[in-house]
Amino acid sequence: MALLPDLLDAGVLELCRTEPKFHKGVLEAYEASYAEVHRWLVWAQEDPTPDDLWSHLQEDHLRFEKNDGWRYVMLERMSGLVVGWASLRPTESSDVVSIGYWVRTDRTRLGYATAATRCLTNAAFHHLAEVDRVEISMDRSNVASVAVPRKLAYRLDRETEYEPLTPAHTGRGFVWTIDRASWTNANCLD
Ligand SMILES: CC(C)(COP(=O)(O)OP(=O)(O)OC[C@H]1O[C@@H](n2cnc3c(N)ncnc32)[C@H](O)[C@@H]1OP(=O)(O)O)[C@@H](O)C(=O)NCCC(=O)NCCS
Repeated sequence: MALLPDLLDAGVLELCRTEPKFHKGVLEAYEASYAEVHRWLVWAQEDPTPDDLWSHLQEDHLRFEKNDGWRYVMLERMSGLVVGWASLRPTESSDVVSIGYWVRTDRTRLGYATAATRCLTNAAFHHLAEVDRVEISMDRSNVASVAVPRKLAYRLDRETEYEPLTPAHTGRGFVWTIDRASWTNANCLD
């Protein structure tokens, strides 16, 4: 049984478990954002065919059920449009999960990545009893992505070196982190 709920309330956004029914909306958002996501995201190095995307959504749906990663489509509450997605992923340590995100290019700088990340951090600590830490990683030059954990009071945990895999990667990364106690204190949660 899935440990995370199918729907999460992120204020201006609704986060909905990824399902094939979002195929058309995700494809449209992805195509409208290809130039930007291609610069940063390893999986966005090729324009996927609609069939590829269908398979990915199907795989994500199953992975969610097996608690092997929880990907949510971001739905803009006002319009019902798909405006990106955000995921919680397991890591090699059972007490650590990581968050990833992208936002449709014509909807950036509206606080959507921050809202989704706040919501997923809450969800991780609320629904995943084993988890004590949430991490967010990005290339050091991805200023938009760096701004998200910084705004949510994550702290910079470490700097990494890695093989660049996209046109904008420098090969130098940041890993930001927050632990359960710090998140609870900062957000006055029970
Ligand atoms: C990174 C990304 C998800 C940010 O999404 P977003 O919804 O625009 O982020 P938010 O609106 O929540 O912004 C968070 C902060 O980043 C800042 N920011 C956003 N885009 C920025 C940019 N291009 N340059 C500088 N700062 C930026 C915002 O100003 C905001 O800070 P503020 O509220 O103090 O002004 C989005 O730009 C994106 O999808 N990029 C391509 C894919 C990607 O890089 N994903 C992350 C890989 S690690």
